[in-house]
Amino acid sequence: MDKNGNKSQDLILFGPPGAGKGTQSELLCERLGLFHLSTGDILREAITKGTETGKLAKQYTDSGRLVPDEIVVKIVEEKVGGVGGNGGVLFDGFPRTLPQAMNLDEVLERGGRHIKWVISILVDDDKIISRLEGRRMCRQCNRIYHVATNPPAKEGICDVCGGELFQRNDDRREVIQERLKTYYAQTQPVLDHYRKKNLLKEVDGAKDPQELSRQILAIIA
Ligand code: AP5
Repeated sequence: MDKNGNKSQDLILFGPPGAGKGTQSELLCERLGLFHLSTGDILREAITKGTETGKLAKQYTDSGRLVPDEIVVKIVEEKVGGVGGNGGVLFDGFPRTLPQAMNLDEVLERGGRHIKWVISILVDDDKIISRLEGRRMCRQCNRIYHVATNPPAKEGICDVCGGELFQRNDDRREVIQERLKTYYAQTQPVLDHYRKKNLLKEVDGAKDPQELSRQILAIIA
């Protein structure tokens, strides 16, 4: 419980593709014991397993478009419903549209939860492209690497679990450009929803990941 008697410390990490949401989520969840809810990770898992949701989602993720709200909202409702009492949730990549944000407000209110802060990570487009083209991810534990700035000890192998590293289908330049367009047209406007509620904090995503994590922790504290 926080000093205001609020039960949860739910946070949203917001930002364009490649801003460092996943990287910061790892650091923050390790430190604060939050439940990491990444809609991107959940959709990729469904795609790998070949479920009906996965088959549908693939058409959207591969072309840099957003998966329809009704699918994503259902996934989030189920996950949030499974998080016990006082455990905080860190939302990574959700919400991405105004209807998703409104739905999240309702789901949290129903569960007696609330968003403490929305942390918006700012990074310019040039950096984003080089970050995403060099990104590699672990197939097993989703740990994030970069071939130049954050390589694994052994090429192609995850330091943490020994899983195979892969390059995401949507980390090709033409898809990255579509994802950026989608972000500016459909997702960035959601920030106004949180600005009006005085929940928005902006941070400089060009900083070193550890330094950025310290800055976010200071905001949360
Ligand atoms: P998702 O997986 O959520 O992708 P994204 O939001 O585009 O974000 P990324 O995962 O690409 O980047 P990130 O910000 O997590 O950066 P990372 O830490 O990995 O979504 C994928 C797709 O699923 C969407 O396009 C959409 O189709 C669908 N989807 C998901 N959620 C949805 C929703 N709510 N509604 C509808 N559709 C949805 O870092 C990137 C690279 O940079 C890494 O190599 C990392 O090592 C490096 N890096 C990170 N931080 C730093 C730093 N500070 N300095 C230098 N390098 C850094």
